[in-house]
Amino acid sequence: MKLINQFLLITFSILILLVSCSAKKRTTLKEAFADKFLIGTAMNSKQINGLDSASIRVIKEQFSAIVPENVMKSEVIQPVEGEFDFSLADQFVKFGEKNNLFITGHTLIWHSQLPGWFCVDAKGNNVSPEILKQRMKTHIYALVGRYKGRVKGWDVVNEAIEDDGSWRKSKFYEILGEDYIRLAFQYAHEADPQAELYYNDYSMALPGKRDAVVKMVNKLQQQGVKIDGIGMQGHMTMDFPSVEEFEKSIIAFSNTGVKVMITEMDISVLPKPGKNVGADVSLNFKYDKELNPYAGSLPDSVATALQNRYADFFRLFLKYKDKISRVTVWGVNDAQSWRNNWPVRGRTDYPLLFDRNNNPKPIVEIIIKEAEEAKK
Ligand code: G3I
Repeated sequence: MKLINQFLLITFSILILLVSCSAKKRTTLKEAFADKFLIGTAMNSKQINGLDSASIRVIKEQFSAIVPENVMKSEVIQPVEGEFDFSLADQFVKFGEKNNLFITGHTLIWHSQLPGWFCVDAKGNNVSPEILKQRMKTHIYALVGRYKGRVKGWDVVNEAIEDDGSWRKSKFYEILGEDYIRLAFQYAHEADPQAELYYNDYSMALPGKRDAVVKMVNKLQQQGVKIDGIGMQGHMTMDFPSVEEFEKSIIAFSNTGVKVMITEMDISVLPKPGKNVGADVSLNFKYDKELNPYAGSLPDSVATALQNRYADFFRLFLKYKDKISRVTVWGVNDAQSWRNNWPVRGRTDYPLLFDRNNNPKPIVEIIIKEAEEAKK
C-alpha cells in the first residue's frame, strides 16, 4: 500500500511539473531585449481608438515603445491654422503611460502630411521667412508643450535630405533654407528641454545620404543645437539595403556622438515597379496582377528568405546594442502595413513580425533567441 501511495505521489508530481512547464509563459520581445534596446511599434488610429483588441494585446505583451503612425502629423494636429485637434494624440499618450511604454512623437516638421495652409498665404504664395518661423514655433510649442515630460523623444525633422545627399527642396527649404532644421530643433528644445530630439530619414544606408546626414548633424552640434539621436527608418526590400552599407551608417551616425535608432522597420517581399528603394510617399504606380504575386499566401521559400533577412538585421542591431537605443517596427501585423498600398495600392505584402491574425511569425522566436544568446 505504501509503495502504491509513493508511486501515485511521484506520478502526480511529475504531472504537475509537466503542466506547469507547458504553461510557462514564453519570453516576449520586450523581455528578451530589456537590457539591449527598446523594441517598439507604430500605432495606427484604430488601435489608438481601442478598436483593434487583438493587435492591442500584442502591443501590450511584446513591445516596450510606441510611436504614432499618423495621428501626431501636422495635418491631423493643426488642419486649419490655429485649430488644434489633439483628441487621438491624447489617447495615444494615455495608452503609452498606462502601459508603461516609451513614447516617441512623430513628426514635427515634415514636407508630407503637411496641411495646405502651413507654408503659404491666402493666395497660395509662399509666406515670408518670418511668418513661417512663427508658424513652426506655434505648432511645435503647442504639440511638444502639451506632452512635456510625457513624450520622451520627438522626430523633430523628417526626411530633409534626398537620396543623393542634396537638400530636399521642400517649402521649408525654399523659404528658410537649411536653417529651418536648426530652428525646428531649437523650438522643440524650448518647448520641452528634457525631451530627446531626433532627425529621422529613410534610405540611410546610401553613401550620399549618410555623408549628408553626418555633415548636417555635425553642423547642428557646432551651432550648439541639442540633437540626441538619428533615426534610420529602415523601410527595406529583399535586396536593399545591404547589411554592410547599413552597418557603415550605424557606425558613421554613432560617431557623431548621438544615439542611433531604427525607427520604422519593415521588409517588403513584393516586386519593385520602379527603382524606388526608400519611402518616398509621393511615388504611385498602377496596379498590375504581376506586381502582386503573393495575394493568396507567401510561398515557404520566400518566407524563409524574409526570415533570414530579418535575422541578419537583428544580428547587426545586437552587435551594435551599445550604440542603438531603440528598434521600432512600422506596425504590428502585416494587414495594417502601409506597404500593402505603397508604391502600388491594393497589394498583399508581408513586411512585419506578426501575421494577419496577429500571430507571431517564426522570426519572432528566432530574434528572441538571438537576443538571449547576445547576453552570453
Ligand atoms: O485619413 C484618411 C482617411 O480619411 C481617408 O478615408 C483614407 C483614404 O485613403 O486616407 C486616410 O489617410 C491616409 C493616412 O495614411 C491615414 O491612414 C492616407 O491616404 C495615406 O497616404 C497615409 O499614409 C501614411 C503615410 O505615412 C503618408 O505620408 C501611412 O499610413 C504611414 O505609414 C506613412 O508613414 C511614413 C512615416 O510617417 C515617415 N516615413 C515614411 C513612412 C512610410 O511612408
